[in-house]
Parts: sequence; C-alpha cells; structure tokens
Amino acid sequence: MLDKVTELIGDVQAFKAVSKEEIEAFRIKYLGNKGLLKELFTEFKTVDASMKKDLGQALNRLRNAATDKVKELNDAIEDTASSKAIYGDLTRPSEPIQLGSRHPISLVRNRIIEVFSKIGFTVSEGPEIEDDWHNFTALNLPEYHPARDMQDTFFIEQDPDILLRTHTSSVQVRYMEENEPPIRTISPGRVFRNEDISARAHCIFHQVEGLYIDTDVSFADLKQTLLYFTKEMFGKSKIRLRPSYFPFTEPSAEVDIYWGLETEVDYKITKGTGWLEIMGCGMVDPNVLKNANIDPEKYTGYAFGMGIERIAMLLYQIPDIRMFYENDVRFLEQFKSVL
Ligand code: PHE
Repeated sequence: MLDKVTELIGDVQAFKAVSKEEIEAFRIKYLGNKGLLKELFTEFKTVDASMKKDLGQALNRLRNAATDKVKELNDAIEDTASSKAIYGDLTRPSEPIQLGSRHPISLVRNRIIEVFSKIGFTVSEGPEIEDDWHNFTALNLPEYHPARDMQDTFFIEQDPDILLRTHTSSVQVRYMEENEPPIRTISPGRVFRNEDISARAHCIFHQVEGLYIDTDVSFADLKQTLLYFTKEMFGKSKIRLRPSYFPFTEPSAEVDIYWGLETEVDYKITKGTGWLEIMGCGMVDPNVLKNANIDPEKYTGYAFGMGIERIAMLLYQIPDIRMFYENDVRFLEQFKSVL
C-alpha cells in the first residue's frame, strides 16, 4: 500500500491542467467525498499497527500534495485570466503595422538632393510667392522681354510685381545676394505656371535647380557634373548637350540622356530616338552675376534646372502627371517599399 501511495504522490505532482473543469475533476478524484484519499484512509484503518506510522505520513503527504496542486492550478488560471483582461491574449500573433509611403515626388527630390550633396552641394529654399526682381528681372529678363512668355505667370491680385514663382531660379538669385562665391547649391521647390493641365503638363509642379559659382568654372565642369548625376540617378552614362536658349545662361543647352531602345516602352517614351530630354542648363550670364553683386570678371558659374515630376515619371514609368496630385491611395501604395 505504501508503494501505491508513493506512486500516487508522483502522479499528483506531475499533473497538469489548463481548464477549470480538469482541475475540478482532479479535485473530486483525489479529495472528493468518494475520492481516493477517502478510500485510502478507510483502508488505512485495517492495516497492521507497525505500518501505520509510515503509511499515515505518506497519506498526509498525498493529501497535502493534492490540495496544493489544486490551489496552484487555480491560481495560474486566474493569473492568465486577469492578464488577458488587461493585455488581451498575449499568445496571439501580432497585428501587422500599417506603414505609410512617401510621395514619389518626395522620393525623387530626396534622391536628387542625396546625389548632389555627395559632391558638396547644399540645399537652399525660398518663398513661393516672389517679386518680379527675383523671378525675372535679376535673371536677365527685364520687363517686356519676350522670353517672359516662355513661362506663363500667375500674378497675385492686380499687382504685377508679386507673383507665384515660375521656377526656383528665384531662390538662386536670393542665394547669390546673400552668399559669397564659391557657391554650390541646389534649390528644390514647388513652382507655378499658368498652363493647361494635361497628361504631360500641370500648372503646379516641382523643380530642382542647381548653381555653381567659383573662379574658372567651365562648361566642361558642367557637363561632367551632369554626367555624374545621370549615372547616379538613372544608371545611364551617355548624355548629349543640345544648344538652346535661356535668358539667364549663355551659352545654354538642353540635356538629353541616352535611354536606349531595348523595350517597347523605350520606343514610346523616346519617340523612337532612344534620347530623352531631362533638363536645361548653361553658363550663368554675366548680367545675372552682376545683378547679384558678384564680379563677372572674377567669377564664372553654371546652372541647371529640372522638373521632379518628369524624372519621377521616367523612373517609375508613370504615364500621366495628374496622378501625382490625385492622392489615389492605390497609386501611392505602390511606393511603400521605396525609401
Ligand atoms: N529655370 C529654367 C526653367 O525653369 C531651367 C534652367 C535653369 C535652365 C538653369 C538653365 C539653367 O525652365
């Protein structure tokens, strides 16, 4: 009988339960009115007196073990129940975190800033509501200059002196007025032109313009910088500069990159030529330097400017510029994985 009781003590200690029902069944089995302990104590009365001491102790140990076990299991269940009430089910799989996405215009702007900051360009910003001087006159576009028509302008109220900037070249004028050469800065920002909205043009868009002024800056420096940029930005290493006209640069050029003709899309976006125009550039006109109190006899410089939307459309193959401003989440969510 002693062996049997010792075995039962082992069983009791090893017992595990997760529900209240199981614990109750266990309690009834050992400690109930018709339970095992009751039976064993009845049997105990009949054993030989010499056995009583050991057996009695063993039976007490069994009863204590069973009572402790019931208490311990009930406590554990209560603990989980109360922590569930506070924290919910701690074993459930976690909920996925909803990540937002950056707007493709921000993504491309940040990338352009990153590429130019590696070669020492700082970032400069200026106001979106500008005066005539910074947007036009200082940039060698005096009143009635025909080239003003290249950029249809929104004026504020009836005052022709106050307008929404048509390019961020205005920021460069401000920067030159406030800083001495050497100057190396890029100006990202929103610009406004009074144009009809279509798949390729919008009245609000974004630009990054660059300015470099120092002694002995040459057209070769400009080309090399642009080549570095197109390599970093697009992974393309062939560019060409086509003569062009801007009032604030002389000579001026349009920059094309060789995109290639590998896919049908390449044919479409390059109109079968393989070449894509991505920005305007040139050597800063001496008149512009003079207007900003920089000595054109001592310093030369180059400038360039590009549209962020255009670059984003090329990089992500976005067919319509209006998609940038509609805030359709199905469009925006596609940029989730890009940093
Ligand atoms: N400001 C010009 C534009 O908005 C771009 C440009 C900048 C061209 C600098 C040449 C040099 O179209």
